[in-house]
Amino acid sequence: MPDLKYSSGFGNEFATEAHSGALPVGQNAPQKAPLGLYTEQLSGSPFTAPRLLNRRTWTYRIRPSVMHKPYERIANGMVRSTPFNEIETTPSQLRWDPLPLPTTPVDFIDGLTTLAGNGDLTMHSGVAIHIYAATKSMTDRFFYTADGELLFVPQLGRLMLHTELGILDLTPGEVALIPRGIKFRVELLDPQARGYLLENYGASFRLPELGAIGANGLANSRDFLTPHAAYDDRDNGTFQVVAKFQGNLWASDFDHSPLDVVAWHGNYAPCKYDLARFNCINSVSFDHPDPSIYTVLTSPSEIPGTANVDFAIFPPRWIVAEHTFRPPWFHRNFMNEFMGLVTGEYDAKAEGFVPGGASLHNCMSGHGPDAETFDRASKADLKPVKLEGTMAFMFETRFVCRPTKFAMDTAARQHEYYTCWQTLKKNFKP
Ligand SMILES: [Fe+2]
Repeated sequence: MPDLKYSSGFGNEFATEAHSGALPVGQNAPQKAPLGLYTEQLSGSPFTAPRLLNRRTWTYRIRPSVMHKPYERIANGMVRSTPFNEIETTPSQLRWDPLPLPTTPVDFIDGLTTLAGNGDLTMHSGVAIHIYAATKSMTDRFFYTADGELLFVPQLGRLMLHTELGILDLTPGEVALIPRGIKFRVELLDPQARGYLLENYGASFRLPELGAIGANGLANSRDFLTPHAAYDDRDNGTFQVVAKFQGNLWASDFDHSPLDVVAWHGNYAPCKYDLARFNCINSVSFDHPDPSIYTVLTSPSEIPGTANVDFAIFPPRWIVAEHTFRPPWFHRNFMNEFMGLVTGEYDAKAEGFVPGGASLHNCMSGHGPDAETFDRASKADLKPVKLEGTMAFMFETRFVCRPTKFAMDTAARQHEYYTCWQTLKKNFKP
Protein backbone atom coordinates (compact mmCIF):
# COMPACT_ATOMS: atom_id res chain seq x y z
CA MET A 1 0.00 0.00 0.00
CA PRO A 2 1.56 3.32 -1.02
CA ASP A 3 2.09 5.95 1.63
CA LEU A 4 -0.80 8.25 0.74
CA LYS A 5 -0.64 11.90 1.65
CA TYR A 6 -3.54 14.33 1.82
CA SER A 7 -4.15 18.02 2.31
CA SER A 8 -7.06 19.10 4.47
CA GLY A 9 -9.96 21.44 3.77
CA PHE A 10 -13.08 21.40 1.58
CA GLY A 11 -12.72 23.17 -1.78
CA ASN A 12 -9.46 24.81 -0.79
CA GLU A 13 -6.89 26.15 -3.22
CA PHE A 14 -4.30 23.36 -3.18
CA ALA A 15 -0.86 23.11 -4.79
CA THR A 16 0.90 19.76 -5.01
CA GLU A 17 3.67 18.19 -7.04
CA ALA A 18 4.86 14.59 -7.25
CA HIS A 19 8.21 15.81 -8.59
CA SER A 20 9.84 18.79 -7.07
CA GLY A 21 9.95 21.69 -9.51
CA ALA A 22 7.01 20.44 -11.60
CA LEU A 23 4.75 23.35 -10.62
CA PRO A 24 5.51 26.66 -12.31
CA VAL A 25 5.87 29.58 -9.93
CA GLY A 26 4.12 32.90 -10.43
CA GLN A 27 2.18 31.98 -13.57
CA ASN A 28 -0.02 29.16 -14.87
CA ALA A 29 1.13 28.70 -18.46
CA PRO A 30 4.81 29.39 -18.99
CA GLN A 31 6.14 29.20 -22.54
CA LYS A 32 7.76 25.93 -21.55
CA ALA A 33 6.27 24.08 -18.59
CA PRO A 34 8.77 22.62 -16.11
CA LEU A 35 10.24 19.14 -16.69
CA GLY A 36 8.88 18.95 -20.25
CA LEU A 37 5.29 18.67 -19.02
CA TYR A 38 2.17 19.88 -20.82
CA THR A 39 -0.03 22.53 -19.24
CA GLU A 40 -3.78 21.89 -19.18
CA GLN A 41 -6.57 23.68 -17.34
CA LEU A 42 -9.53 21.65 -16.08
CA SER A 43 -12.53 23.90 -15.47
CA GLY A 44 -15.29 22.52 -13.26
CA SER A 45 -17.38 25.68 -13.53
CA PRO A 46 -17.92 28.28 -16.24
CA PHE A 47 -14.96 30.68 -16.50
CA THR A 48 -17.21 33.46 -15.28
CA ALA A 49 -18.75 31.72 -12.25
CA PRO A 50 -18.63 33.94 -9.15
CA ARG A 51 -15.35 33.61 -7.30
CA LEU A 52 -17.00 31.71 -4.42
CA LEU A 53 -18.26 29.02 -6.80
CA ASN A 54 -15.47 29.07 -9.36
CA ARG A 55 -13.70 25.71 -9.63
CA ARG A 56 -10.69 25.04 -11.79
CA THR A 57 -7.41 23.20 -11.57
CA TRP A 58 -4.21 23.68 -13.56
CA THR A 59 -2.55 20.37 -14.36
CA TYR A 60 1.01 19.70 -15.51
CA ARG A 61 0.96 16.34 -17.24
CA ILE A 62 3.07 14.02 -19.35
CA ARG A 63 0.66 14.21 -22.29
CA PRO A 64 -2.39 16.44 -22.82
CA SER A 65 -5.84 14.84 -22.44
CA VAL A 66 -6.61 15.29 -26.12
CA MET A 67 -4.24 12.47 -27.19
CA HIS A 68 -6.59 9.56 -27.79
CA LYS A 69 -8.48 7.78 -30.55
CA PRO A 70 -12.16 8.59 -31.22
CA TYR A 71 -14.66 7.32 -28.69
CA GLU A 72 -16.90 4.44 -29.80
CA ARG A 73 -20.21 3.49 -28.23
CA ILE A 74 -20.14 0.47 -25.95
CA ALA A 75 -23.02 -1.27 -24.22
CA ASN A 76 -24.48 0.58 -21.24
CA GLY A 77 -24.83 -2.65 -19.27
CA MET A 78 -27.05 -1.91 -16.28
CA VAL A 79 -26.30 1.82 -16.26
CA ARG A 80 -29.34 4.02 -16.83
CA SER A 81 -29.76 7.76 -17.15
CA THR A 82 -32.37 10.43 -17.59
CA PRO A 83 -35.18 10.63 -18.52
CA PHE A 84 -35.77 7.54 -16.30
CA ASN A 85 -38.97 6.66 -18.09
CA GLU A 86 -38.48 2.91 -18.63
CA ILE A 87 -41.54 2.29 -16.46
CA GLU A 88 -44.19 4.27 -14.62
CA THR A 89 -43.19 5.33 -11.12
CA THR A 90 -45.26 3.95 -8.27
CA PRO A 91 -46.18 6.05 -5.21
CA SER A 92 -45.72 2.91 -3.09
CA GLN A 93 -42.89 2.68 -0.58
CA LEU A 94 -40.03 0.60 -1.98
CA ARG A 95 -37.27 -1.37 -0.32
CA TRP A 96 -34.50 -3.62 -1.53
CA ASP A 97 -32.14 -6.24 -0.13
CA PRO A 98 -28.46 -5.76 -0.99
CA LEU A 99 -27.78 -6.59 -4.62
CA PRO A 100 -25.81 -9.85 -4.90
CA LEU A 101 -22.07 -9.68 -5.44
CA PRO A 102 -20.73 -11.00 -8.75
CA THR A 103 -19.54 -14.61 -8.72
CA THR A 104 -17.11 -13.97 -11.61
CA PRO A 105 -14.40 -11.31 -11.97
CA VAL A 106 -16.23 -8.04 -12.59
CA ASP A 107 -14.71 -4.58 -12.34
CA PHE A 108 -16.27 -1.34 -11.07
CA ILE A 109 -17.56 -0.25 -14.49
CA ASP A 110 -19.11 -3.58 -15.44
CA GLY A 111 -20.53 -3.96 -11.93
CA LEU A 112 -22.51 -0.71 -11.97
CA THR A 113 -26.29 -1.01 -11.70
CA THR A 114 -28.65 1.95 -11.66
CA LEU A 115 -31.54 1.77 -9.19
CA ALA A 116 -33.23 5.12 -9.71
CA GLY A 117 -32.81 8.67 -10.83
CA ASN A 118 -34.51 11.93 -11.74
CA GLY A 119 -34.18 15.29 -13.42
CA ASP A 120 -32.51 15.86 -16.75
CA LEU A 121 -28.78 15.49 -17.08
CA THR A 122 -28.80 17.60 -20.24
CA MET A 123 -30.13 20.46 -18.09
CA HIS A 124 -27.68 19.79 -15.23
CA SER A 125 -30.40 18.82 -12.80
CA GLY A 126 -31.28 15.70 -10.86
CA VAL A 127 -29.32 12.61 -9.90
CA ALA A 128 -28.76 8.96 -10.70
CA ILE A 129 -28.38 6.44 -7.91
CA HIS A 130 -26.19 3.48 -8.76
CA ILE A 131 -24.95 0.47 -6.84
CA TYR A 132 -21.44 -0.77 -7.57
CA ALA A 133 -20.55 -4.42 -6.93
CA ALA A 134 -17.10 -5.51 -8.02
CA THR A 135 -14.72 -8.44 -7.62
CA LYS A 136 -11.85 -7.25 -9.82
CA SER A 137 -9.59 -4.20 -9.90
CA MET A 138 -9.37 -1.91 -12.90
CA THR A 139 -5.74 -1.92 -14.05
CA ASP A 140 -5.63 -0.68 -17.67
CA ARG A 141 -9.17 0.64 -17.64
CA PHE A 142 -10.36 4.05 -16.53
CA PHE A 143 -13.66 5.83 -16.12
CA TYR A 144 -15.02 9.34 -16.06
CA THR A 145 -18.47 10.87 -16.27
CA ALA A 146 -19.13 14.19 -17.94
CA ASP A 147 -22.73 13.92 -16.71
CA GLY A 148 -22.12 14.71 -13.05
CA GLU A 149 -19.93 14.42 -10.00
CA LEU A 150 -19.70 11.11 -8.16
CA LEU A 151 -20.24 10.52 -4.46
CA PHE A 152 -18.94 7.11 -3.34
CA VAL A 153 -20.55 5.60 -0.24
CA PRO A 154 -18.77 2.26 0.22
CA GLN A 155 -20.58 -0.40 2.21
CA LEU A 156 -18.33 -3.45 1.73
CA GLY A 157 -14.63 -3.65 0.93
CA ARG A 158 -11.85 -1.09 0.88
CA LEU A 159 -11.05 0.74 -2.34
CA MET A 160 -8.12 2.61 -3.76
CA LEU A 161 -9.29 5.36 -6.11
CA HIS A 162 -6.47 6.21 -8.50
CA THR A 163 -7.46 9.57 -9.99
CA GLU A 164 -5.80 12.06 -12.30
CA LEU A 165 -5.11 14.28 -9.29
CA GLY A 166 -3.90 11.65 -6.82
CA ILE A 167 -4.79 8.47 -4.98
CA LEU A 168 -7.44 8.10 -2.28
CA ASP A 169 -7.92 5.08 -0.08
CA LEU A 170 -11.51 4.55 0.94
CA THR A 171 -12.96 2.37 3.70
CA PRO A 172 -16.63 1.78 4.50
CA GLY A 173 -17.56 4.60 6.86
CA GLU A 174 -15.81 7.10 4.61
CA VAL A 175 -17.19 8.79 1.49
CA ALA A 176 -15.39 10.23 -1.53
CA LEU A 177 -16.27 12.88 -4.10
CA ILE A 178 -14.88 12.73 -7.61
CA PRO A 179 -15.72 15.86 -9.59
CA ARG A 180 -17.28 15.75 -13.04
CA GLY A 181 -14.81 14.78 -15.74
CA ILE A 182 -11.93 13.53 -13.62
CA LYS A 183 -10.63 10.15 -14.79
CA PHE A 184 -9.98 7.37 -12.32
CA ARG A 185 -9.62 3.66 -11.88
CA VAL A 186 -10.91 1.62 -8.95
CA GLU A 187 -8.59 -0.86 -7.29
CA LEU A 188 -10.06 -3.33 -4.81
CA LEU A 189 -8.12 -3.81 -1.59
CA ASP A 190 -10.43 -6.66 -0.55
CA PRO A 191 -11.81 -9.54 -2.64
CA GLN A 192 -15.23 -7.92 -2.96
CA ALA A 193 -16.52 -4.38 -3.00
CA ARG A 194 -20.03 -2.97 -2.92
CA GLY A 195 -21.43 0.45 -2.27
CA TYR A 196 -23.71 3.25 -3.30
CA LEU A 197 -22.73 5.72 -5.99
CA LEU A 198 -24.59 8.98 -6.38
CA GLU A 199 -24.15 10.74 -9.69
CA ASN A 200 -25.07 14.36 -9.12
CA TYR A 201 -26.02 16.09 -12.37
CA GLY A 202 -26.67 19.38 -10.60
CA ALA A 203 -24.62 22.02 -8.83
CA SER A 204 -21.53 20.57 -7.23
CA PHE A 205 -21.73 19.52 -3.63
CA ARG A 206 -20.75 22.04 -0.99
CA LEU A 207 -20.95 22.30 2.76
CA PRO A 208 -24.36 23.47 3.97
CA GLU A 209 -24.83 26.88 5.57
CA LEU A 210 -24.76 26.64 9.35
CA GLY A 211 -27.12 29.52 10.22
CA ALA A 212 -27.76 29.72 13.93
CA ILE A 213 -25.40 26.79 14.59
CA GLY A 214 -22.52 29.18 14.10
CA ALA A 215 -19.04 28.81 12.66
CA ASN A 216 -18.49 25.13 13.52
CA GLY A 217 -20.38 21.87 13.44
CA LEU A 218 -21.85 19.21 11.17
CA ALA A 219 -19.10 18.31 8.67
CA ASN A 220 -16.13 20.56 9.39
CA SER A 221 -14.15 21.69 6.37
CA ARG A 222 -10.77 20.59 7.73
CA ASP A 223 -11.86 16.94 7.86
CA PHE A 224 -12.13 16.69 4.06
CA LEU A 225 -8.93 15.28 2.59
CA THR A 226 -7.64 15.84 -0.93
CA PRO A 227 -4.79 13.67 -2.24
CA HIS A 228 -1.36 14.91 -3.16
CA ALA A 229 -0.36 14.62 -6.81
CA ALA A 230 0.64 11.13 -8.00
CA TYR A 231 1.19 10.00 -11.56
CA ASP A 232 1.28 6.81 -13.60
CA ASP A 233 3.88 6.89 -16.40
CA ARG A 234 2.87 3.65 -18.12
CA ASP A 235 2.87 3.77 -21.93
CA ASN A 236 3.56 0.17 -22.83
CA GLY A 237 0.14 -1.17 -23.70
CA THR A 238 -3.43 -0.24 -24.42
CA PHE A 239 -5.38 1.73 -21.89
CA GLN A 240 -9.14 1.96 -22.25
CA VAL A 241 -10.98 5.02 -21.04
CA VAL A 242 -14.73 4.60 -20.61
CA ALA A 243 -16.60 7.89 -20.71
CA LYS A 244 -20.15 8.37 -19.54
CA PHE A 245 -21.46 11.11 -21.77
CA GLN A 246 -25.08 12.17 -22.23
CA GLY A 247 -26.20 9.04 -20.43
CA ASN A 248 -24.30 6.55 -22.58
CA LEU A 249 -21.00 4.73 -22.25
CA TRP A 250 -18.26 5.34 -24.79
CA ALA A 251 -14.77 3.86 -24.94
CA SER A 252 -11.49 5.06 -26.38
CA ASP A 253 -8.04 3.52 -26.48
CA PHE A 254 -5.10 5.49 -25.19
CA ASP A 255 -1.49 4.41 -25.72
CA HIS A 256 -0.62 5.65 -22.23
CA SER A 257 -2.17 5.89 -18.80
CA PRO A 258 -4.39 8.99 -18.58
CA LEU A 259 -3.42 9.38 -14.91
CA ASP A 260 -0.25 11.23 -15.86
CA VAL A 261 -0.60 14.50 -13.95
CA VAL A 262 2.72 15.17 -12.23
CA ALA A 263 1.68 18.37 -10.48
CA TRP A 264 -1.42 20.50 -10.12
CA HIS A 265 -2.82 23.47 -8.33
CA GLY A 266 -6.42 24.56 -7.95
CA ASN A 267 -9.68 23.95 -6.15
CA TYR A 268 -11.31 21.33 -8.43
CA ALA A 269 -10.16 18.01 -7.03
CA PRO A 270 -11.39 14.78 -5.46
CA CYS A 271 -11.67 14.48 -1.70
CA LYS A 272 -12.74 12.05 0.98
CA TYR A 273 -14.40 12.40 4.37
CA ASP A 274 -14.68 10.11 7.36
CA LEU A 275 -18.35 10.13 8.46
CA ALA A 276 -17.22 9.48 12.04
CA ARG A 277 -15.94 13.08 12.06
CA PHE A 278 -19.48 14.44 11.65
CA ASN A 279 -20.34 16.72 14.55
CA CYS A 280 -23.93 15.84 15.28
CA ILE A 281 -26.29 18.57 16.45
CA ASN A 282 -29.46 17.29 18.08
CA SER A 283 -32.19 17.96 20.61
CA VAL A 284 -31.26 18.20 24.28
CA SER A 285 -34.80 19.10 25.38
CA PHE A 286 -37.75 17.46 23.59
CA ASP A 287 -38.82 16.39 20.07
CA HIS A 288 -36.20 16.20 17.40
CA PRO A 289 -35.26 18.57 14.63
CA ASP A 290 -35.91 17.86 10.97
CA PRO A 291 -33.34 15.47 9.48
CA SER A 292 -31.76 18.37 7.57
CA ILE A 293 -29.74 18.79 10.76
CA TYR A 294 -27.73 15.77 9.58
CA THR A 295 -26.74 17.24 6.18
CA VAL A 296 -23.13 16.51 5.28
CA LEU A 297 -23.12 18.03 1.79
CA THR A 298 -25.68 19.86 -0.28
CA SER A 299 -26.15 20.45 -4.00
CA PRO A 300 -28.43 23.49 -4.12
CA SER A 301 -30.86 24.29 -6.90
CA GLU A 302 -31.97 27.69 -8.16
CA ILE A 303 -34.84 27.61 -5.62
CA PRO A 304 -33.68 28.64 -2.14
CA GLY A 305 -33.74 25.75 0.34
CA THR A 306 -34.74 23.22 -2.31
CA ALA A 307 -31.71 21.05 -2.85
CA ASN A 308 -31.06 19.25 -6.09
CA VAL A 309 -29.79 16.67 -3.63
CA ASP A 310 -28.66 16.63 -0.01
CA PHE A 311 -26.43 13.94 1.43
CA ALA A 312 -27.47 13.36 5.04
CA ILE A 313 -26.32 10.73 7.52
CA PHE A 314 -27.73 9.15 10.68
CA PRO A 315 -24.59 8.49 12.70
CA PRO A 316 -24.00 7.15 16.22
CA ARG A 317 -25.23 9.73 18.74
CA TRP A 318 -26.79 10.23 22.13
CA ILE A 319 -30.55 10.42 22.18
CA VAL A 320 -31.80 12.23 25.25
CA ALA A 321 -35.07 13.98 24.33
CA GLU A 322 -37.59 13.93 27.20
CA HIS A 323 -41.29 12.98 26.88
CA THR A 324 -40.67 12.39 23.18
CA PHE A 325 -41.27 9.67 20.62
CA ARG A 326 -37.62 9.30 19.79
CA PRO A 327 -37.39 7.44 16.44
CA PRO A 328 -38.22 9.37 13.27
CA TRP A 329 -41.90 10.29 13.22
CA PHE A 330 -44.47 9.32 10.64
CA HIS A 331 -44.34 11.78 7.83
CA ARG A 332 -45.00 12.67 4.24
CA ASN A 333 -42.58 14.89 2.47
CA PHE A 334 -42.22 17.21 -0.50
CA MET A 335 -38.69 15.94 -0.98
CA ASN A 336 -37.87 12.40 -2.11
CA GLU A 337 -35.85 10.13 0.13
CA PHE A 338 -33.54 7.36 -0.99
CA MET A 339 -31.94 5.68 2.01
CA GLY A 340 -29.08 3.24 2.38
CA LEU A 341 -27.31 1.61 5.28
CA VAL A 342 -23.54 1.25 5.61
CA THR A 343 -23.56 -0.61 8.89
CA GLY A 344 -25.72 -1.54 11.90
CA GLU A 345 -29.43 -0.84 12.27
CA TYR A 346 -31.51 2.23 11.51
CA ASP A 347 -33.59 3.46 14.44
CA ALA A 348 -36.90 3.61 12.53
CA LYS A 349 -36.78 0.05 11.25
CA ALA A 350 -36.44 -2.96 13.50
CA GLU A 351 -35.77 -5.32 10.62
CA GLY A 352 -35.73 -5.66 6.84
CA PHE A 353 -33.47 -2.66 6.18
CA VAL A 354 -29.99 -4.15 6.12
CA PRO A 355 -26.49 -2.92 5.22
CA GLY A 356 -26.19 -2.70 1.46
CA GLY A 357 -29.97 -2.53 1.06
CA ALA A 358 -32.00 0.53 0.18
CA SER A 359 -35.39 2.15 0.55
CA LEU A 360 -37.19 4.79 -1.46
CA HIS A 361 -40.00 7.00 -0.18
CA ASN A 362 -41.10 9.42 -2.85
CA CYS A 363 -43.03 12.69 -2.75
CA MET A 364 -46.02 12.57 -0.35
CA SER A 365 -45.78 8.81 0.22
CA GLY A 366 -46.35 8.11 3.92
CA HIS A 367 -43.60 6.37 5.85
CA GLY A 368 -42.09 6.14 9.30
CA PRO A 369 -41.36 3.65 12.03
CA ASP A 370 -42.53 0.10 11.50
CA ALA A 371 -45.11 -1.39 13.88
CA GLU A 372 -42.55 -3.08 16.09
CA THR A 373 -40.43 0.07 16.43
CA PHE A 374 -43.53 2.20 17.13
CA ASP A 375 -44.63 -0.17 19.87
CA ARG A 376 -41.21 -0.34 21.48
CA ALA A 377 -40.50 3.40 21.31
CA SER A 378 -43.96 4.31 22.68
CA LYS A 379 -43.23 2.35 25.87
CA ALA A 380 -39.49 2.94 26.17
CA ASP A 381 -37.98 4.17 29.38
CA LEU A 382 -36.66 7.58 28.29
CA LYS A 383 -33.21 7.42 29.81
CA PRO A 384 -30.36 8.86 27.75
CA VAL A 385 -29.48 6.26 25.13
CA LYS A 386 -26.36 6.03 23.00
CA LEU A 387 -27.18 4.86 19.51
CA GLU A 388 -24.05 3.02 18.45
CA GLY A 389 -22.61 0.94 15.64
CA THR A 390 -24.89 2.40 12.98
CA MET A 391 -24.50 4.52 9.84
CA ALA A 392 -27.53 5.08 7.66
CA PHE A 393 -27.65 7.79 5.04
CA MET A 394 -30.10 9.56 2.79
CA PHE A 395 -29.95 11.09 -0.66
CA GLU A 396 -32.78 13.60 -0.38
CA THR A 397 -33.69 15.12 -3.70
CA ARG A 398 -36.22 17.64 -4.99
CA PHE A 399 -37.51 15.49 -7.88
CA VAL A 400 -39.32 12.18 -7.61
CA CYS A 401 -36.77 9.36 -7.83
CA ARG A 402 -37.89 7.12 -10.66
CA PRO A 403 -36.80 3.50 -10.25
CA THR A 404 -35.33 1.65 -13.21
CA LYS A 405 -37.05 -1.40 -14.64
CA PHE A 406 -34.30 -3.48 -13.08
CA ALA A 407 -35.02 -1.99 -9.64
CA MET A 408 -38.69 -2.97 -9.89
CA ASP A 409 -38.07 -6.45 -11.32
CA THR A 410 -35.06 -7.60 -9.30
CA ALA A 411 -35.44 -10.43 -6.82
CA ALA A 412 -33.79 -8.09 -4.30
CA ARG A 413 -36.96 -5.96 -4.17
CA GLN A 414 -38.98 -6.59 -1.02
CA HIS A 415 -42.53 -6.84 -2.30
CA GLU A 416 -43.80 -7.33 1.27
CA TYR A 417 -42.26 -4.08 2.55
CA TYR A 418 -45.71 -2.51 3.09
CA THR A 419 -46.60 -5.16 5.65
CA CYS A 420 -44.25 -3.64 8.24
CA TRP A 421 -46.89 -0.95 8.85
CA GLN A 422 -50.05 -3.06 8.54
CA THR A 423 -50.08 -4.24 12.15
CA LEU A 424 -50.03 -0.72 13.61
CA LYS A 425 -52.95 -0.83 16.05
CA LYS A 426 -55.90 1.49 16.32
CA ASN A 427 -55.36 3.03 19.76
CA PHE A 428 -57.93 5.84 19.54
CA LYS A 429 -60.06 6.05 22.67
CA PRO A 430 -62.38 9.06 22.48
FE1 LIG B 1 -38.52 10.26 5.62
